[in-house]
Amino acid sequence: MYEAFFRLTGKPFQLNPDPDFFYGSRGHRRAMAYLEYGLHQGEGFIVITGEVGAGKTTLVRNLLRRVPSDSVQAAQIVSTQVGADDLLRLVAGSFQLDVAGLDKSSLLQRLEEHFRAMHRTGRRALLVVDEAQNLSPRAVEELRMLSNFQEGTRSLVQSFLVGQPEFRAILQRPEMRQLKQRIIASYHLGPLDSAETRAYVEHRLRHVGWRGDPDFSPDSLAQVHAVAEGVPRRINTLCDRVLLAAFLAERHDIDRDLIEDVAAELADELGGPTGGALLAVVPAGAPDEPVGSTGGDTETGAASSAASAAARIALLEARLARLEASSATTYNVLQRVLRVLRASTGALGLNRAAPGEGRARRGDPDGAGSAPVRAVR
Ligand SMILES: Nc1ncnc2c1ncn2[C@@H]1O[C@H](COP(=O)(O)OP(=O)(O)OP(=O)(O)O)[C@@H](O)[C@H]1O
Ligand SMILES: [Mg+2]
Repeated sequence: MYEAFFRLTGKPFQLNPDPDFFYGSRGHRRAMAYLEYGLHQGEGFIVITGEVGAGKTTLVRNLLRRVPSDSVQAAQIVSTQVGADDLLRLVAGSFQLDVAGLDKSSLLQRLEEHFRAMHRTGRRALLVVDEAQNLSPRAVEELRMLSNFQEGTRSLVQSFLVGQPEFRAILQRPEMRQLKQRIIASYHLGPLDSAETRAYVEHRLRHVGWRGDPDFSPDSLAQVHAVAEGVPRRINTLCDRVLLAAFLAERHDIDRDLIEDVAAELADELGGPTGGALLAVVPAGAPDEPVGSTGGDTETGAASSAASAAARIALLEARLARLEASSATTYNVLQRVLRVLRASTGALGLNRAAPGEGRARRGDPDGAGSAPVRAVR
């Protein structure tokens, strides 16, 4: 929407984990080094954890681009709170195996055959599991079992587990002892510091042809860091809205006040600094087990499934509230865009009132359609 105004070739602060925008902060570089070390070792587990929105999926996508495909067949799954058997099916699917209708032992056999066949062609398998915090202990155990497939002393399959900080707690459980012994490296991805936040923002802007417009003052970037606490997704949410606000106010300079205004606006709309609602909502009283672990996978009784159902409902309610808040935001933004468009078509003399439109205008309490937009709020 604002790209043309700033002469950018695209949107700089999208929320999708696009590796084309990858910025190697100290933390991201180090995490990448751990993954590459793991790749080099060719066996064992690597665990990467990081706060919500810290850049884990972006990291994984960046890694997958760099995997040498002649020696490694990489596959990725995103764990969505599936049971242990379903997890194996997901793994098989990610390696493009057709395992429909197979029972668990045939499924395991099929996977093993595949990994051995790959080994014969000089390749090994790499399984990357994103959102690993959703894995139930039994699903983690299945992954460990996969690492038992060996040819001589070499593992046929290696796993990288990437997840939010809760995954660390899961790994501390006594039943995770065996898996823990196979972890060859683990790393926690922290937030960006102030200098990195500045470099990150400029890096993303440069990627879409930025030549200094918009012009972020140094203290505005310090404020971006303070508000978003150095978390890339929160930086993106904030900066995207800041650019929109600057466009609507027809200004090219971005100062600290503008950042503060937009941050306050986001906090109003979404209930937290830089869109707290965009962060994962863990309902109070949610069970310790990942919400929604499916039947047969855990020793859940009636009480814990009731707790799980209640937690799911709470999660759905929270999602609904977020959707409502974001529709309201979209509505507000569209209203403002409409005002700017009306003002500019008016300035060009194109603003001919359609029949009945005049009446609607007169009823417009804040004068939409004529007043130039001066400020965000
Ligand atoms: N190193 C980076 N370089 C460029 N963009 C990044 C980087 N890290 C994160 N981002 C951006 O931040 C946003 C969130 O990143 P991502 O989805 O990878 O986070 P995540 O840690 O996987 O989040 P979640 O915990 O919700 O799974 C995305 O828009 C992504 O492009
Ligand atoms: Mg992710």
